[in-house]
Amino acid sequence: MKNSSLVTKLVATFAMVVTVGYVLIAVVLSLWFQSYFLEKNRADLEETAILASSSVPLYLNKEIDDTELMRNLSLVKGVEKGDILLVDASGYIFFVTNEAYESLMFTRFSFPDRDRLVEGNSIEINGEMNPITKEEMSLYIKPIQNNGVYQGAIVVYTPLQSIEAPLREIYLRIWSITALAVILSIIFIYYLAQRMLFRPLAELNTIARKISKGEVTQRVLVTSSDEIGQLSESFNSMAESLEETDKNRRDFLSNISHELRSPITSIRGFIAGILDGIIPMDKEKYYLKIVYDEIQRLTRLVNDLLDLSAMESGKFSFKLTELDINEIVKVCITRFETKIDDKALKVNVTLEGDHLYAAGDRDRLIQVMTNLIDNSIKHCPDNGNIRVQTRTKGKKVLVSVYNDGNAIPDHDIKNIWDRFYKGDKSRTNKVSTGLGLPIVRNIITQFGEDIWVENKPQGVQFTFTLSMT
Ligand SMILES: Nc1ncnc2c1ncn2[C@@H]1O[C@H](COP(=O)(O)OP(=O)(O)OP(=O)(O)O)[C@@H](O)[C@H]1O
Ligand SMILES: [Mg+2]
Repeated sequence: MKNSSLVTKLVATFAMVVTVGYVLIAVVLSLWFQSYFLEKNRADLEETAILASSSVPLYLNKEIDDTELMRNLSLVKGVEKGDILLVDASGYIFFVTNEAYESLMFTRFSFPDRDRLVEGNSIEINGEMNPITKEEMSLYIKPIQNNGVYQGAIVVYTPLQSIEAPLREIYLRIWSITALAVILSIIFIYYLAQRMLFRPLAELNTIARKISKGEVTQRVLVTSSDEIGQLSESFNSMAESLEETDKNRRDFLSNISHELRSPITSIRGFIAGILDGIIPMDKEKYYLKIVYDEIQRLTRLVNDLLDLSAMESGKFSFKLTELDINEIVKVCITRFETKIDDKALKVNVTLEGDHLYAAGDRDRLIQVMTNLIDNSIKHCPDNGNIRVQTRTKGKKVLVSVYNDGNAIPDHDIKNIWDRFYKGDKSRTNKVSTGLGLPIVRNIITQFGEDIWVENKPQGVQFTFTLSMT
C-alpha cells in the first residue's frame, strides 16, 4: 500500500467498507429468511398434523377403515411434501402413507422424548437419518389425545433436502446480488474518483511541473466548485502572481539597464570628447559639470535601488521611536526653501498642536516627507499653493501634502507606486529615478501604516497615517 497511488488506496478502502456493509446486510437477510422460512415450514407441519389427527381417533374406533383413512390423509395439506406415520400408544407404527415405509409397519418407533409427547407437546427433530432412504430427515411429531388421554402420535417425515433446497435458492440469490452490488459500487466509485479527483489532480500536477520549468502562463481549467475546484482556483491565482512576479522581474531588469545605460553613454561620450580633444578646452568645465550631474544621478539611483532592495528583503532595520511629526515637517520644508522661492510657491503649513507625537523612525520619515514635498514642488505650477497638514483622527495621525496642479490621470494613478514609473515626462527632471514613491510606500508599509493619493479639484494630495504613541 505504501507505494500505491491514491486511486488504489481509496478504491481499496472503499471496497473494504462496502464489502463489509453488504456482507452484513446479506447475513442479516439470510438469517431473517431462514427463520421466516423454517417458521413457516413448522406451521405447515403443525397444520398437517392437526388435520391428520382428526381422522385418527375415527380409525382407532374402527369407524373408518384403512382406505378411508388413507383418503382422508391424502387430502391433508402438506402430505405431498412429507410422509405420515401413525404410532399407537405403545409406540408401534400401525399406519404409513407411503409404501416405501411398509417395512416399518408394526415395528416400534423410538421416540427421543416420549414423556414430553405424552404430556401433549409436539416434538421437532432435524437431521434424523431415514432408516429406509438413508436421507437426512426432519421429523415433526404430534401427540394424539382423546379426552386428555394419550392415544399415540402422528409423525410427519420430511426430507431435510426438500426444506433446505428453497432456502439454498434464496441464499444464492441474496449472495449473488450482494456480490454484484459490491462490484458495481466499486466500479462506480472508481469512475467517480477518476473523474472528480484523480484527473483534476493529475492535471494540477502536470501544470505545476510546467510552471516550475518556467511556463508561467499555464493555467488549469476550473470545472467544479468543490474543494478541487477551489484548489484549482487558488493554484491559478498563485500562477498569476508568479507570472506577475516574473513580469516584474523582467521589467525591473530592463528598466535598470535602461536607467543605467543612458547616463553611462553620455558620461562616456563627454569624457571621450575631452580626451580626444574634440571638446574645446574652454568648454571642458561645462561638460565635466554634466558628467558630474550624471554621476550624481547614478549614485542616487544606486542608493535608491539598494534602499529598496534592502527594504524588500526585510534587511532594513529601523527603530520605531516616539517622535514629533510637526518638527519633522518643519525640518523638511526648510530644506526646500530655495526651490520654493525659485518657483515663488505659497506654502501653507497647518499643524495640530505644538507637538504631535507618533511612532516612527526619524531618518525614514524624513525620507518620506522629502520625497512627497519634492514631488509636490515639482508638480506645482509657479506661484501655486502647497499645503502640508498634520491632524489626528482617532488613534491615528494623518499627514498630508497637497499641491496645486493637474490631476494624476486614471491610467497613471495605479502605476505611480511602481518602481521606475514616471508619469509626466516633461515635469520630471533629469535626476528623477521614479523610485521615490515606491520607497515611500515601502517605508510606510513597514511601519504598518497606510498611504494613498487623491485628486482634488485643483491639485493632488498624498496622505499617510502614523500611530499615536
Ligand atoms: N504631487 C504630484 N502630482 C502629480 N503627479 C505626481 C505627484 N507626485 C508623483 N506624481 C507622479 O508619480 C510619478 C512617480 O513619482 P516618484 O516620486 O516615484 O518618481 P519621480 O518623482 O518621478 O522621481 P524621483 O522621486 O526619483 O525624483 C511621477 O513621475 C509623477 O508622474
Ligand atoms: Mg519623487
